[in-house]
Amino acid sequence: MRILHTIADLRQALAGTTGTAFVPTMGNLHEGHLALIKLAKEHGGPVVASIFVNRLQFAPHEDFDTYPRTLGRDCELLRSVGCNMVFAPSENELYPQPQTCTVRPDPALADILEGRFRPGFFNGVCTVVLKLFNIVEPKVAVFGKKDYQQLMVIRHMVRELALPIEVVAGETARADDGLALSSRNGYLSEAERAEAVALAQELRAIGAALRAGRRDWAALEAEAVDRLVRRGWKPDYVAVRRRVDLLEPGADDRELVALAAARLGTTRLIDNLELSVPA
Ligand code: PAJ
Repeated sequence: MRILHTIADLRQALAGTTGTAFVPTMGNLHEGHLALIKLAKEHGGPVVASIFVNRLQFAPHEDFDTYPRTLGRDCELLRSVGCNMVFAPSENELYPQPQTCTVRPDPALADILEGRFRPGFFNGVCTVVLKLFNIVEPKVAVFGKKDYQQLMVIRHMVRELALPIEVVAGETARADDGLALSSRNGYLSEAERAEAVALAQELRAIGAALRAGRRDWAALEAEAVDRLVRRGWKPDYVAVRRRVDLLEPGADDRELVALAAARLGTTRLIDNLELSVPA
């Protein structure tokens, strides 16, 4: 496995290859990331992972400075699952001067849910992802459903900008108790880690209510928020949406997704669950 730190070195390492599958990450890798690498390997071409903590997608009060940087361990893990190349640029390599040319994704998709509580977040994500796409020139790019809205925003960017890239989605990897794996889980105290599973449980409870015939989305959302607050969480949102465009479901919509974001102590966790309305 080769580890490249500059755009020029990565381009040279990729010269003459085709069919690259690309997995962008911010590092501090866990089984969820590694599952995406394994999915990328199924496409047969070389697999490139990037590790870059992207300042553009962090607000000034967020955890850019403390986000865990564990490059040595990450590379060992990537090697163990057969990743071929790691692109780990410095900030100065990717942003040698302030990035003033940026991507503004569709507000209808990017300014709701996460975008409402983290203004500009998806501008930062799309700008770095488009830049990485232009550096790696992959045939396939793999993203996790764990960040459901991010996956949707990137799919939309790829389609509207006619990027010649197939976006592939990986399922959310979870701990045994159901908590979605996340680099930010490392911020949790032992007690918070035990409590953290409640977020996934609330999403599953919405699924159960739906199977029991309930369609009063707003009430279901409010009940979940209420229960989380009573358990000591500070929820940003719990939302039942259509999978196609993340808008509120109409009477005929059957393919739904429940999405949630909430703070436990100082750690902000997100999760989601795809749900189907029974016929
Ligand atoms: P990061 O949070 O490191 O996630 C990298 C990729 O791993 C994303 O596609 C994310 O959805 C996926 N992922 C995270 N946890 C997962 C889990 N439990 N199961 C499955 N996949 C999971 O997302 C980012 O980085 C950044 O925004 C990035 C796209 C790299 C742009 O900076």
